Amino acid sequence: MPVHIVGWGKYVPERILTNDDLSRMVDTSDEWIVSRTGIRERRVASAEETTASMAVQAARRALEVAGLRPAQVELIIVATMTPDYVFPSTACLVQDALGASHAAAFDIGAGCSGFVYGLSVASNMIRSGAYANALVIGSETMSRVLDWTDRETCVLFGDGAGAVLLQAKDIEGGVLASMLGADGSGSEVLFIPAGGSRLPTSSETVAERLHYVTMKGREVYRFAVHAVPDATRSVLERAGQDVADVDMIIPHQANQRIMDASAKVLGISVDKIYSNLSAYGNTSAASIPIALCEAVERGLIQRDHLIVCVGFGGGLTWAAAAIRWTVRLPSEPISGWEALWYRVQYRYASFRSSMRRLLRAILAWWIKE
Ligand code: ACO
Repeated sequence: MPVHIVGWGKYVPERILTNDDLSRMVDTSDEWIVSRTGIRERRVASAEETTASMAVQAARRALEVAGLRPAQVELIIVATMTPDYVFPSTACLVQDALGASHAAAFDIGAGCSGFVYGLSVASNMIRSGAYANALVIGSETMSRVLDWTDRETCVLFGDGAGAVLLQAKDIEGGVLASMLGADGSGSEVLFIPAGGSRLPTSSETVAERLHYVTMKGREVYRFAVHAVPDATRSVLERAGQDVADVDMIIPHQANQRIMDASAKVLGISVDKIYSNLSAYGNTSAASIPIALCEAVERGLIQRDHLIVCVGFGGGLTWAAAAIRWTVRLPSEPISGWEALWYRVQYRYASFRSSMRRLLRAILAWWIKE
């Protein structure tokens, strides 16, 4: 059965950090950042917001568009490199907060390619018949892993989340093909050196600022300008489609120059490459679902369009998915009654979670006694 995107949603924090704001924090300028990257501003999570809380907001919107109840969700995959905890997975926190009481949940760590990795894994699990639907979410709180004194990295990233709901539907089209790639020899091109089993957290690692994103920018750039066109061509070949037939490419939003160079190599107009980088910066695994959601909301994706989502990132990894968008696009937002019904379900999810925690505490006390 073909697998379709039937719901989509995004969430970005309210706080905006402009290039001018950054120029008061480190030795940089709006002119340098815009000319080298295309970024003008980015969103930064508040102290209360986390990767899981932003993922929940995006997932709720995707469920509302799809008209599915949280309890009907069968699988939740969260792509992130900034999880709430090393373990449990962020997906489990999302499952609990959504009240998705029948869902399996796990995280995918594939850097900025994580969302497309998740899309590929979920669509193949649905196609196998094991699951009827899946929420795939990309969510990142990059602001918590950036060294705000390092001008080479802190100007590039932002926070946010995007989600899609995949469902098996007896309609032609949907996710036609996907491809995934990896090259671990480039693991140190873009990484966080400390905090894992190789270099556990210690006062020395903290003093040496090893818990922040470290990047060889030029190497990432060289890798990306090949990875994006190669992955796009490869997935289109698998899908039996041609580059000329593509209506929209939704690439990982890292750098406008990478997008422009990719358009040139692919021989397509840069207008076919969706970009919202100037407003959000690089939100890592969240960038593609945020861009996809925005493109749909702006009416740039229409029925029967052929789109390609293509990511690259730490690992090194790259991934692409070709999608023929054949499902209905809702023309208006959900009604007030439907919104109220969803709010009741979210309240119930929070009540259910508190009750289960209470029951667990009572049981622990009773067994001890
Ligand atoms: N403001 C002002 N000057 C700066 C800044 C800054 N924020 N950052 C670096 N510079 C300086 C450097 O110190 C250097 O100065 P020097 O010549 O005196 O030594 C000069 O600018 C040039 O630095 P380069 O690193 O050579 O600049 P480059 O043109 O390569 O641009 C950039 C850097 C934007 C990072 C580019 O290499 C790039 O976009 N790379 C890809 C990055 C990327 O996409 N990363 C994420 C992908 S994967 C993921 O999302 C997890």
